[in-house]
Amino acid sequence: MAVLKEFCFRPAVDGPNKTVICVSPGQSKVIGRSSDSDAVVDEPSLSRQHAKLSMAADGSVTVEDLGSTNGVFVNGTQRRVATLVPGDTVRLGAFEFKTDTGRSRVEFPDGSMVRRRQADRAIVDRAALEALLSTSREIMAFGDLQGLLDRVLDRLQAILTPDRSAILLIDPATGELRPRSVRPAGAYQNVSQFASSTAVLESLSSREVLVVEDAKADARLRDAVSVVQAGVQSAISVPLLGRSGPIGALYADRTAPRGGFEGQQIDYAAAFAAHAAAALETAQLYDDREQHFRLTLEALAKAIDARDKYTAGHSERVTSYAVVLATAMKLPEGDRDVVHRAGMLHDIGKVGVPDHVLLKPAALDPAERAIIESHVTIGYEMLKELPFLREALPAVRGHHERWDGRGYPDRLAGGNIHLYARIMAVADSLDAMTSARPYRGALPVDEAARRLRADAGTQFDPAVIEAFNRAEAELRAMITT
Ligand SMILES: [Fe+2]
Repeated sequence: MAVLKEFCFRPAVDGPNKTVICVSPGQSKVIGRSSDSDAVVDEPSLSRQHAKLSMAADGSVTVEDLGSTNGVFVNGTQRRVATLVPGDTVRLGAFEFKTDTGRSRVEFPDGSMVRRRQADRAIVDRAALEALLSTSREIMAFGDLQGLLDRVLDRLQAILTPDRSAILLIDPATGELRPRSVRPAGAYQNVSQFASSTAVLESLSSREVLVVEDAKADARLRDAVSVVQAGVQSAISVPLLGRSGPIGALYADRTAPRGGFEGQQIDYAAAFAAHAAAALETAQLYDDREQHFRLTLEALAKAIDARDKYTAGHSERVTSYAVVLATAMKLPEGDRDVVHRAGMLHDIGKVGVPDHVLLKPAALDPAERAIIESHVTIGYEMLKELPFLREALPAVRGHHERWDGRGYPDRLAGGNIHLYARIMAVADSLDAMTSARPYRGALPVDEAARRLRADAGTQFDPAVIEAFNRAEAELRAMITT
């Protein structure tokens, strides 16, 4: 068990003459307003000799009320004598202190693993602080979790110049700690490959920055895979502390013979982590909620498909065809993700189409046709207020537009139809043709492919049909008729 070597009272609110009061083992300090106190706090609510802070030789810390007028309060409760642990709040009269383990390092018995408390912002020099603030503003502006993770790791790299680094987040659903962003890519697959999961878990449970200065000298680490195979020498794990506890950790390591991290780098990383944790916690919260909501919508879309045995599984098939087409068009990953979301939800507006129209086995009259066509605008209206689906909207609204301008609902033509909608139109038609209908069986894939090609330039964007041609073998393999 680590032994405290220092214990400090820090004024909760900074101001002039508000000194930090620290004791070490075997030491006591009388705190009061009078000038012969060991620690003078010039505050009217304090008695002349208000309280005594003591640390015993074994590191235990007590505070004792010396008969003050306004009392000693520990975590809000008035006490005459109380044992303290780091993190307690102590109020003397009206003056509040936070307590911590001071600037001194806390050494483990084997001396190789070193903890530091979270850096006090005041000890980070001014230039670093300014850089930190601009980074914080920048990361706060990031809306999506993955973008934010990558940006935070970019910054951590700049601060620590490690050989490898990662952000691990605790999965709120399972409680499991998982790497969410790593440098270089693929450096770690799971927590056990870190120089040590011991270091990461230790920093999370202690809520303190943990620095491994020489992994090879540490009995707990020297046999770890990362130490043996990757040659990790030094490592740092900085807990990300959210409002209700740890949400994950920033991790970095260096391989021999570059040496360890410097004190200033560690302090800077710790101060940075405090800002990053707030931003990441917010982003994670939104991300979880969005994901939950999106999955609910997708479940609804599947339920709508399932109303009709002929369209069961339609949204999922359209999604996979659309993603293959988007890939064949060399769209970047971000676009492919949007196409994926859009595919799952493109027909969600059918929730507003009554069964007697949706499931009618015979030809539709003009009024019924208008009702069924309204599914694109119903879907658009349903989703338009959801910021995380905004990019998918053009495909939801526009997947029945035609290249020649004779589609619906807006009769857009050519490039005025959003690319995602043009892709969705081909994917949607491919599935419609290769699925059975009440009035016909599924068309053979050859025939469906022929029709798609024949309609390039009239119904479909020729560029999407070219992509279809390039990806035809892959698409054929996906179609089960
Ligand atoms: Fe549709």
